[in-house]
Amino acid sequence: MNEASRPEEITEAVVVASFGACSDARTRELMQALTKHLHGFVTEVRLARDEWQRAIAILAETGGITDEHRQEFVLWSDALGVSMLVDALAIERPTGTTESTVVGPFWAAGSPIRRFGNSIGEHSGGDPAWVFGRVTNESREPIAGAESDVWQNGVNRLYAVQDPDVPEAHLRGLFHSTRDGEYAFLGIRPTPYPIPADGPVGRMLAATGRHPWRPAHIHVAVHAAGCESVATHIFDADSAYLDSDAVFAVKPSLVKQFVPRTLEDPDRPSGVSGSWYSVQMDFVLARQPDRAE
Ligand code: BEZ
Ligand code: FE
Repeated sequence: MNEASRPEEITEAVVVASFGACSDARTRELMQALTKHLHGFVTEVRLARDEWQRAIAILAETGGITDEHRQEFVLWSDALGVSMLVDALAIERPTGTTESTVVGPFWAAGSPIRRFGNSIGEHSGGDPAWVFGRVTNESREPIAGAESDVWQNGVNRLYAVQDPDVPEAHLRGLFHSTRDGEYAFLGIRPTPYPIPADGPVGRMLAATGRHPWRPAHIHVAVHAAGCESVATHIFDADSAYLDSDAVFAVKPSLVKQFVPRTLEDPDRPSGVSGSWYSVQMDFVLARQPDRAE
């Protein structure tokens, strides 16, 4: 029987006594550190009973609002900087390889495979942007057949998974690099948008005087055999909010210039009938470490 009643005794009973005998070392480490820090937080702020009840209600609401289209737990992780911290603590990538950033809640499986240079737009709206570059390994050798999974928000600020008025695959697609490692697609110049702010995360942002905006970006997740996958963004160098991203995801190496181009430009992609932009983003993938059996 636990007979702890003083605060330190309660913490000791949970952290040391209850988890001390856990036979799996990693589970023991995780549970002991989690409860130690949780108890430390409660003790430091002298959490009141009604505050803890409100916290539990917020967690319940987070679960309630989460479904296949809305992931409020991911949003907490992103808005509290935990996603970026976990990413920063993950295995170090060799210098010069493409940096990763948040995946966010709007990636969806099953994007259509599209051909080199094709458009990802299946609905009107937005200034065309030709996105191109090369996928290489650490030695800068081209990787053929690397898969780029791309997704971006529309001019109404919504991703297709949030928007019942556009086709499911609007502004999404899978592209495979050529023999020379090249990839290209026609997207739209991205626009800033607010992360969903009508739930518990939005209330936290409002209560703390934080804004919900993300700077304009295109998501790309690149996968190739024998290489570490990277989920990253192409940020628009002229966007607002680059210095105050609501989810702390901007890295200078990912910020690129969208170059204005004209109708007369001989490189104008087919299907473009006005002014357009181009942006180059090369992806350098790290070698997958040899895994001991
Ligand atoms: C996104 O970029 O899609 C995103 C990332 C984190 C939170 C919300 C949205
Ligand atoms: Fe996004």
